[in-house]
Amino acid sequence: MTQELAPIRRDHSPAVSSDWWRDAVIYQVYVRSFADSDGDGIGDLRGVRDRLPHLAGLGVDAVWLTPFYASPQADGGYDVADYRAVDPLFGVLADADDLVREAHRLGLRVIVDIVPNHTSDRHPWFRAALDGGPDAPERALYHFRPGRGPDGALPPNDWESVFGGPAWTRTGDGAWYLHLFAPEQPDLNWEQPAVREEFDSVFRFWLDLGVDGFRIDVAHGMVKAAGLPDIGLREQAKLIGAQVLPFFDQDGVHEIHRAWRRLLDGYDGQRIGVAEAWAPTAERLALYVRPDELHQAFNFQFLTCAWDAGAMRRVIDGSLAATGSVGAPTTWVLSNHDVVRHTTRYGGGERGLRRARAAALLTLALPGSAYLYQGEELGLPEVTELPDAVRQDPAFFRGDGQDGLRDGCRVPIPWSGTSPPYGFGPGGSWLPQPPAWAGLSVAAQTGDPRSTLELYRSALALRKELPGLGDGGALEWLAAPAGVLAFARPGVVCTLNTLDTEAELPVPGRPLLSSAALEFGGGTVRIPGAACVWWAV
Ligand code: GLC
Repeated sequence: MTQELAPIRRDHSPAVSSDWWRDAVIYQVYVRSFADSDGDGIGDLRGVRDRLPHLAGLGVDAVWLTPFYASPQADGGYDVADYRAVDPLFGVLADADDLVREAHRLGLRVIVDIVPNHTSDRHPWFRAALDGGPDAPERALYHFRPGRGPDGALPPNDWESVFGGPAWTRTGDGAWYLHLFAPEQPDLNWEQPAVREEFDSVFRFWLDLGVDGFRIDVAHGMVKAAGLPDIGLREQAKLIGAQVLPFFDQDGVHEIHRAWRRLLDGYDGQRIGVAEAWAPTAERLALYVRPDELHQAFNFQFLTCAWDAGAMRRVIDGSLAATGSVGAPTTWVLSNHDVVRHTTRYGGGERGLRRARAAALLTLALPGSAYLYQGEELGLPEVTELPDAVRQDPAFFRGDGQDGLRDGCRVPIPWSGTSPPYGFGPGGSWLPQPPAWAGLSVAAQTGDPRSTLELYRSALALRKELPGLGDGGALEWLAAPAGVLAFARPGVVCTLNTLDTEAELPVPGRPLLSSAALEFGGGTVRIPGAACVWWAV
């Protein structure tokens, strides 16, 4: 199960600063869509390595790489067949090693994805479980059950896959196995010590190679309610994050996270764990980041919040209170590889872009850590018109679960040039890029002070310079007209006009950065609709 190169344990190179992760800006690289080095149209690890200077220059602190492990790619690599090997699509193990070293040389930390809730159906354990028949000991490592009904022809319970259809598939010998996602992603049984031991070993493998942490996929899913009880409700995918389900956010998952925290703490350099956990409330999410559990959890309530001043303020307050109650930093995230890009969510077109630029300044002014998704620094919109023939999201083909439209945020990003693949690589691109992206490339935006890329560069540079941003102190709300949010951090005031029309307020200080042009006069400033401004005070 390992590749040719055995990683050597080496000293952890980035300068150790205390609690670096508490206010880190972490950039998500969706590996297959970031940069392609070999011309097969699919992004790869060498492509990422070659483009690391862009990320260092952008001013982020760390990079999170989506799964690049050996996988049949039934779910974009979230179906792992060998957790210690690099898929040939993305390179070889030496490329991962090289990438980590180069990132560290540039002062960037590297977080890798780990997928512990399920394996690929091509994983050796699952193959042995199927090939060995009903008595195969490997079946205990998954959730195999007899069916219901006279001849066992009905699934063991009423659970539905997140991607649509039943969460169970029947094998040739009549037994059913559980898969909360695609049938190619059988769920592991975390009551088995062998499963825990294997993941400890996988964690160590990548920590020894030098990674700075893990993004834990479906961190809320590993433990299932005893007896696998029926839910009694349909359309269960819509209940995720709204209520505790017998397969998600069970209390038992916390013990697994505690064990991983102990493992991470055994390494130097503050290696971290970040939970992809969908929990119904900010309070339940905060349980994942108690002092003896993971370091961070994605704040999906911020991501799903409507463009509305009142709603935003409630989410910000609720998130800060919940994570504050356990002493953890809040994370702020607007987009990732599973959701419609926020430029489009916020209405698309010019208005969506104005809001997205404003939201970026809001996000980077809030206390805590922020996650950026590749291409948001270019203001990329969702690609909504992809032909069915090129789509790969497994949910698209199953229906009635998630909408299955996740390919639209995964289109390879534009780097340069006037026609596809816009410098993505020497070949094509696995999903077609829109003609309009020529003007959005990194090269086209570089040096243009009005571009979204330069806005992000300026914001990230200021965030590093200003000690009051990041984790540096409390947030205090200031009086503001309806539709405007205004808050103070030490030395900085942030004002966000969420309205479509201009808002006028007393000048709060010296303007540092604005997502749109301002007009001053008579001691007041007129902030255009959907704009955010940072002020020095
Ligand atoms: C997470 C990933 C998503 C994947 C799913 C199953 O939600 O972000 O892309 O499909 O887990 O692994």
